[in-house]
Amino acid sequence: MQAQLQELIARARAEAAALKTRPAFEAYKASLVGPNGSLTGMMKTLGQLPKEERPAAGKMINEAKVAVQAILDEALRAIEASELAARLGPAIDPTLPTPDFPVGRRHPLTLVRDEICRILGTLGFTVREGPEVETEYYCFDALCTPSDHPARDAQDTYYFPEKTRFGNISKKGDSEKYLLRTHTSSVQIRTLLAEKPPVRILSPGRVFRRDNADATHSANFHQIEGLVVDRGITVCDLKATLDYLFQSLLGPGTKTRFRPHYFGYTEPSFEVDFAATHLSKVGKEWIEIMGCGMVDPLVLEEVGLDPKEWSGFAFGLGVERIAMTLYGVDDIRHFYANDVRFVRQFS
Ligand code: DAH
Repeated sequence: MQAQLQELIARARAEAAALKTRPAFEAYKASLVGPNGSLTGMMKTLGQLPKEERPAAGKMINEAKVAVQAILDEALRAIEASELAARLGPAIDPTLPTPDFPVGRRHPLTLVRDEICRILGTLGFTVREGPEVETEYYCFDALCTPSDHPARDAQDTYYFPEKTRFGNISKKGDSEKYLLRTHTSSVQIRTLLAEKPPVRILSPGRVFRRDNADATHSANFHQIEGLVVDRGITVCDLKATLDYLFQSLLGPGTKTRFRPHYFGYTEPSFEVDFAATHLSKVGKEWIEIMGCGMVDPLVLEEVGLDPKEWSGFAFGLGVERIAMTLYGVDDIRHFYANDVRFVRQFS
């Protein structure tokens, strides 16, 4: 019996290693240890042996069973490994260079935003962000634009239903109305309520208006807000800051001019035009580019600052507008069309 068992194990070792599939494995396993398997058959002969030979024979058969089970386990592991390898596909050589990996480009609006933040960063401005879902308080009321104010018409936007709640961004609790912010000026209030002056911040971000899309209008676009509050800030600081910005962006020949205007939260307020006659793509005209002014004393009082001690300036510019002028883009909708042929043109 011992010789028979040894032969059975040797044969199993050779045959099991050649198994390639699960059905073949199952069939082979049955041929050894199934109800009609050869090892099972030998176990059945135990009863016919003389009584004194049975313990030794039983021991041998049990050892053979353990050996056969190990051979079967090993064969199954090999089949599973080759199934996994088939699913994973051919092996990868991580040391090879990547074939033709497409390098991404930054979007032109990102380029302009980053460049403006970089330029003003050299003057000590740092970036603050505010939420796009804003409350009426931060977007309008605290900026001296109450709900019956005519300036609200120009900044009509998307209001959320009365009962909508957005966590803890509200100052007034349950009576608050939520909307999509129409400008980044809301971040002025958020910053001044959170930080003590001197404050010198920029706030880039997305804004929303109820608007019909055409070549120069979009229901959402991007702005960069600027705010400085300190002791002794004057219009000179504002003008010099914007001159520096536009000369850095467009070259030293660039000029800016202020025209009186109205914004609820600055007094006096200005619209800013620039001229870059040295740039052929910009042309000879003055181009209206942004709004600005001296922070209204009422805004300072609203955030608990004494206007006799503190003064400041603020400005807000449209990123699309500047990108269109800089790059000669004639339709604002190009920026949002996700056409890589457009986006790839800028660096
Ligand atoms: N918030 C204004 C707008 O969206 C832009 C603006 C004007 C921002 C004057 C200011 C400012 O900070 O002082 O049209």
